[in-house]
Amino acid sequence: MRRTRVLMAAAGIAAASMALAGCSGGSDGGSTDGGTDGGSGGEVEVFTWWAAGTEKAGLDALVEVFGEQHPDVEFINGAVAGGAGSAAKDLLQSRLQAGDPPDTFQAHAGAELQDYIDAAQVEDVSDLYEEFGLTEAFPQDLLDRLTVDGAIYSVPANIHRANVVWANPGVLEEAGLDPEAEYASIDDWIEAMEAVKETGKTPLSVATTWTQVNLLETVLLADLGAEGYEGLWTGDTDWTGSDVTDSLEHFETLMSFTNTDRDGLDWPDATQQIIDGQAAFNVMGDWAEASFAEAGFEAPTDYVYFPVPGTDGVFDFLADSFTLPVGAPHPDGVKAWLETVGSADGQTAFNQAKGSIPARTDADTSEFGAYQQTAITSFAEDTIVSSLAHGAA
Ligand code: GAL
Repeated sequence: MRRTRVLMAAAGIAAASMALAGCSGGSDGGSTDGGTDGGSGGEVEVFTWWAAGTEKAGLDALVEVFGEQHPDVEFINGAVAGGAGSAAKDLLQSRLQAGDPPDTFQAHAGAELQDYIDAAQVEDVSDLYEEFGLTEAFPQDLLDRLTVDGAIYSVPANIHRANVVWANPGVLEEAGLDPEAEYASIDDWIEAMEAVKETGKTPLSVATTWTQVNLLETVLLADLGAEGYEGLWTGDTDWTGSDVTDSLEHFETLMSFTNTDRDGLDWPDATQQIIDGQAAFNVMGDWAEASFAEAGFEAPTDYVYFPVPGTDGVFDFLADSFTLPVGAPHPDGVKAWLETVGSADGQTAFNQAKGSIPARTDADTSEFGAYQQTAITSFAEDTIVSSLAHGAA
């Protein structure tokens, strides 16, 4: 399997800082041995932010497979609404600090997970990787990004791509633009936005803060390139350099083309503006694909997608993964949940509905849509960088 030009500096630094901190997530409370647990098995509270819409549909698809694989374990939905965990993460932190963890929670692979590891809030689940055969099932790059000092603290459910533009062909045509045009640079793209602005439509739809950060990271990636972008998180790229300043100015210009009601909206609203033909472009992770699929849209007639201009050949990566918190009340239930999350059937069902691609390399993706097929190819061939807005960087 090809995994070329992967930038691993961030993972290396994370591993080094763990070694320095001498952290251990060990605790008796979260045994993963699958034995009896004093009668507390039989259920699992799963904490996510997939509370509504297409995200809930993805979770539901996973829960259906869980029901088939573990009919004896009751699924308790602990979802808290708010895209990208904007409300869930604070609540989770309060629960963890109060010693009241859910049985399992959603966390992004990479730096975000590192915070939970450093705080000794999650258990090492590498024994489950052996037991469920996950070491062979996941690509080595992903395992490297998950491994800290030889331990692995979560099971990934998917791979999402954050640097995607979704666009409405009708709105582009109205502005005299070729709907299938791709733009080589942010400057070229800004020119197209000028044309859309003339029509009175919104050139670029965006929503609340984290979606703006998602946009910002892709602009930095476009302008600085993969290496320069990764250097922002390792210290190798100087934040005061003129190239970063120019890029931030690009971001400022792009923001001037966005809808003014943005701060009160969540991502589905910004994507809906493309579906409804109110806006031309939207930068969003590929959970947006599920919204276009739900609307019955077909590309390239009803919508088009392409990497954020200047980022072709780079895959801005994030992965949702599930943990075993220290002191989880139902470790046997968690073990069952993690088995389903890591299983080929679980990954196929979940990702087909979610717009993402399976983290496993052997899951059946034959029924996946055209966009997801492009993501599978890109993830295998592109340079992979870590998303800032979604906790990987
Ligand atoms: C991301 C998450 C995705 C999706 C998105 C919008 O952080 O990884 O699965 O849910 O937020 O809520």
